[in-house]
Amino acid sequence: MGSDETSEQHETGPRAASHKMQSLDLISQLRCPSCANRLQQNVDRIECSVCKVSYPIIDGIPRFISDQHLASFGRQWNKYEVAHDDEDRATFQAKTGISLAELSGLRVLDAGCGGGRYSKVCGEAGAAVIGADHSDAVSKARQLCSRLPSVAFVQADLKRLPLERESFDFVFSIGVMHHDADTRAVFDAVAKLVKPGGRYSVWLYRCNQWWQEWMNNALRRRSTKMPPEKLERWCEWGAWYGGLPIISKTLNKVVNFSAHPNRENRVCDTFDWYAPQYQYHHTVAELSDWFTEVGFDQLRVLPPEKTGRFYRWVYERNLLIGSGVNVTGVKRAT
Ligand SMILES: C[S@@+](CC[C@H](N)C(=O)[O-])C[C@H]1O[C@@H](n2cnc3c(N)ncnc32)[C@H](O)[C@@H]1O
Ligand SMILES: [Zn+2]
Repeated sequence: MGSDETSEQHETGPRAASHKMQSLDLISQLRCPSCANRLQQNVDRIECSVCKVSYPIIDGIPRFISDQHLASFGRQWNKYEVAHDDEDRATFQAKTGISLAELSGLRVLDAGCGGGRYSKVCGEAGAAVIGADHSDAVSKARQLCSRLPSVAFVQADLKRLPLERESFDFVFSIGVMHHDADTRAVFDAVAKLVKPGGRYSVWLYRCNQWWQEWMNNALRRRSTKMPPEKLERWCEWGAWYGGLPIISKTLNKVVNFSAHPNRENRVCDTFDWYAPQYQYHHTVAELSDWFTEVGFDQLRVLPPEKTGRFYRWVYERNLLIGSGVNVTGVKRAT
């Protein structure tokens, strides 16, 4: 890192370690979320000299916000080991519509990076990546990507990112925006970071049949109020059922639980479904309109990753709980 690392090099001990920045020259890329001025590092804080505000750097990560309503994500991503390289590479390509070969040399934003599995995929493919998340999941993300000098993280709200507008070649967001109180506000704010001519790929939960939505809302009204330890115990049961193929292919059209082949992923995915305060479901038409309204064209509706005739049949009838609507587009050059 440039000047910030120089100012730190005489410090030793745990305090120094807690604000030692990530390898990517992150500070020079940060902008004040209020006035867009460049930010400076002052020992263990990031400051805006115009607004006279500062933000802490904790464990090497600038923290512009704390967990709030998204704390369950900090818990789940730090607790469960769910990254699997081959699977994550395949899922990333399916849900963004971009191949790994295209990533080399690009400046990429992982909007809502969680535990960092897709930031890792991009960093390994040669992109310079910033991962942003509202929750302390960024701690796990940083750990997961610790060997990748071109990947760095910030803890921030996607609606007020400390980053320059129109500065990313490629921005993606997988399973994130529907967890905000206002999905559209997040979509619009993140879209502003894409360069003219750059690509934007978004995956959101799909709106299911009315009776599935009704059942899900009833369950989530309860589950979101449970203490996390109690909910995790329920998710352990869900993970057990999810491991039984017949049950997982039938009952999960009524009640969502994960059927991932790995047990730890099943617990994590099920918790991921039932814990967050907000979970909105959207349609392809809605998401496509959002892209058009904020100046994107060359839209492509991406198909689901899984194949198979039965899968496609239930998917196309919006019967698959937890499946997505997935669109990618290119920002019009102005
Ligand atoms: C289901 S996780 C997905 C994480 C990652 N994209 C993945 O697929 O592994 C959703 C993440 O979005 C983050 N998130 C939701 N709303 C956000 C917001 N307004 N600003 C920043 N992060 C947000 C949550 O903290 C959480 O880590
Ligand atoms: Zn400022």
